[in-house]
Amino acid sequence: MTGPVQILRASIFNTPQNPFDFSDALVAIEDGGLAVAEGCIAACDDYSRVSRQFPDAAVRDLRGSYLLPGFVDTHVHYPQVRILGGLGYSVLDWLQGLTLPEEAKLADTKYANQISGEFLQQLKSHGTTTALVFGAHFESAMTCFFEAGGQSGLRIISGLVLSDRGLTPALQQTPEAAYEQSKSLIRRFHRKGRLAYAVTPRFALSASEPMLQVCEALRREDASLHFTTHVNENPREVEEVARLFPWAADYLAVYERYHLAGRRSIFAHNIHTCDSQLHRLSVHGAAIAHCPCSNAALGSGIFPMKHHLDARVRFALGSDVGGGTGFGMMKEALQAYLLQRVAPQAMTLTAAQMLYLTTRAGAEALDMDAEIGDFTPGKAADLVVLQAPQKSPLAGVLAAKVDPARALAAIFTLAGSECIREVQVGGEVIYDIAAN
Ligand code: GUN
Ligand code: ZN
Repeated sequence: MTGPVQILRASIFNTPQNPFDFSDALVAIEDGGLAVAEGCIAACDDYSRVSRQFPDAAVRDLRGSYLLPGFVDTHVHYPQVRILGGLGYSVLDWLQGLTLPEEAKLADTKYANQISGEFLQQLKSHGTTTALVFGAHFESAMTCFFEAGGQSGLRIISGLVLSDRGLTPALQQTPEAAYEQSKSLIRRFHRKGRLAYAVTPRFALSASEPMLQVCEALRREDASLHFTTHVNENPREVEEVARLFPWAADYLAVYERYHLAGRRSIFAHNIHTCDSQLHRLSVHGAAIAHCPCSNAALGSGIFPMKHHLDARVRFALGSDVGGGTGFGMMKEALQAYLLQRVAPQAMTLTAAQMLYLTTRAGAEALDMDAEIGDFTPGKAADLVVLQAPQKSPLAGVLAAKVDPARALAAIFTLAGSECIREVQVGGEVIYDIAAN
């Protein structure tokens, strides 16, 4: 360690192990010290021990606040920030009635620029530090977004959305154009700073077989690319996919045929699934973006979490803005908790599992857990400084000095963006509530 060391002194929560496998996985340190050097975690322990380890370090006294790893949103649509709150639809009607007309507006570069800025600001102010972002259908809108994303300091994985049927014509491109435009964006933005590229067909309903072949070719030409799309979200969608791809045994089989299910493949939803698809997802090492607010808001259904756990299919949380209800990942964890309480195979999530699902599970789903997701020394210092506003219900609960798991549960139940005081990525402050 050569550079200067800074110690953040606050209460600390993180889950370096999987709390679905280990009941004692929650690391909670009441008077904690998080030492950061050269953008990475140098130590995470009791403040007294960390200050002895780094006696010359500068100390920031944040007592009364909580340090959590930065949140990871594994499914969020950048062009949909202005259609949040469009209730009363199910997904296919919502696409036709509300979403696709809004997405067509991103053909205008000026509008795309404005929406990019709004969207990235919302990620930051909600404590999200890494996001797999479903992009726009226009190369120009993706250029705006990657340029703004590069300047935001966030870790952003995104890509041009590909479709050549079933949507409004304004959002469709030929497979040839899809290939050329994707290649150009990959050359310009993949692995540039904190940006990375994801091959992104919208869903099987709007992709012909030649378009899926384009996706396969892009991934074959660069194995470091991510892949993301939707699967098994809504019964009508599943039926339509079966009609369009009569040779496919089920929805997942469409993507498998083009070798699109593997590590770094993230499929949103997977509600109306089956044992065979779950088994294959597990074998592929693919991950699911579970979007509980969206699943309820669009009436899509209740995610079969117990089945995913039993089949050892990885999953993490996604806000699915704008089918979801906002950017807050803690709200997603709370919604997952609420829906699993009443699911047919009911489960009671612990606070540790809720924290894991918003942080480390997302890092694992994106194959980034060697770098981010918890406070293990050597990982990047991606973190949220959280503090309950005075006189808020959360401040009252925390003042009662409840035990750590109860405090964390109260944070996940009650904390919104008003509690996100500061956000750091790689030790760099990218958001300060006082400056916003
Ligand atoms: N399926 C295809 N496109 C979309 C979308 O934008 N949102 C959701 N929730 N499902 C989709
Ligand atoms: Zn989506």
